[in-house]
Amino acid sequence: MTAVSAVSDVSSNPIVFLNDELVPLSEARVPVLDRGFIFGDGIYEVAPLYPHAGGGRTAFRFRQHLARLARSLDKIGIANPFDDAGWRELIDRVVAANEADAGLSANQDAIAYIQVTRGVAKRGHAFPAGIKPTVFVMVSPLHLPGEAQRAQGVRCVTAEDRRWLNCDIKSVSLLGNVLMAQYAAENDAFETIQFRDGVLTEGSSSNVWMVKDGALYAPPRSNKILEGIRYGLIEELASECGIRFEAREIAEAELRDADEIVVSSATKEVLPVTQLDGRPVGTGKPGAVFAALYAAYQRAKAKEAQEAQQGLENESRERITA
Ligand code: PDD
Repeated sequence: MTAVSAVSDVSSNPIVFLNDELVPLSEARVPVLDRGFIFGDGIYEVAPLYPHAGGGRTAFRFRQHLARLARSLDKIGIANPFDDAGWRELIDRVVAANEADAGLSANQDAIAYIQVTRGVAKRGHAFPAGIKPTVFVMVSPLHLPGEAQRAQGVRCVTAEDRRWLNCDIKSVSLLGNVLMAQYAAENDAFETIQFRDGVLTEGSSSNVWMVKDGALYAPPRSNKILEGIRYGLIEELASECGIRFEAREIAEAELRDADEIVVSSATKEVLPVTQLDGRPVGTGKPGAVFAALYAAYQRAKAKEAQEAQQGLENESRERITA
């Protein structure tokens, strides 16, 4: 199975932001004593950027992504290097540099990858005083799942969740998730769905949803899962579609007996799981709840794009009349 990374397209050479500079990716260098490299001491964010009719890009649910970034930083005691306006400005700079460089065409979906590590210091486990966080931002083309994948659904495998108990922090220490993604790849599956002590947690890089008798269920927000930005979004979409939603523990046996399973993430949006460990999920075909959530997701994107475009129009009108 060929692994296609949705986040970084290493065949191109995008302009990235590293600390205080915009540089080509091939020239971006981090000292080996960066604590991100030595200890995995840092956090990250992945946010979709969708083009809109006005020629700009909407950073979808960006306020929520920035709030999670701030929470992750706070949980590991790194001062946020920018406020929300500063982050937005920085992403705009990186997008503009890549559009000017023709690395990113104006009508292409993209993904913003943000990473902040504690910084560079002599090796020692506890936090060193007075160091400056390393800030890295990369904007790459986003290849969303295609129509065929949505029509057929994806195959998943399952495994015991052996990660640490701070999965709510979007940490760059991703070895547990990496091993689970590799397990899926080796088994020709799209994703590994994890259970901790017989209870559903999440995928290696996605949240997992169960449908039973027309209702939607997900594991509650806790330290055992990363609260996806799609978590809150799907709650809203379910309510908009009149689908009953409940956050509660889901036993392994229940998931195996589900009518539908759905996975969600910034790079996958929502996808139906039609096979689990080689057995069909429900009818073995994508179900009605998935179809309703997917349609509602696309409407949410269109709505935010329209709002962003209107915002830009108002801004340029203000500039003209100023
Ligand atoms: N990962 N859980 C885990 C462990 C994840 O890595 C992700 C996303 C999610 C879903 O979060 P969101 O809806 O905010 O994308 C849940 C990103 C896409 C990644 O690591 O590339």
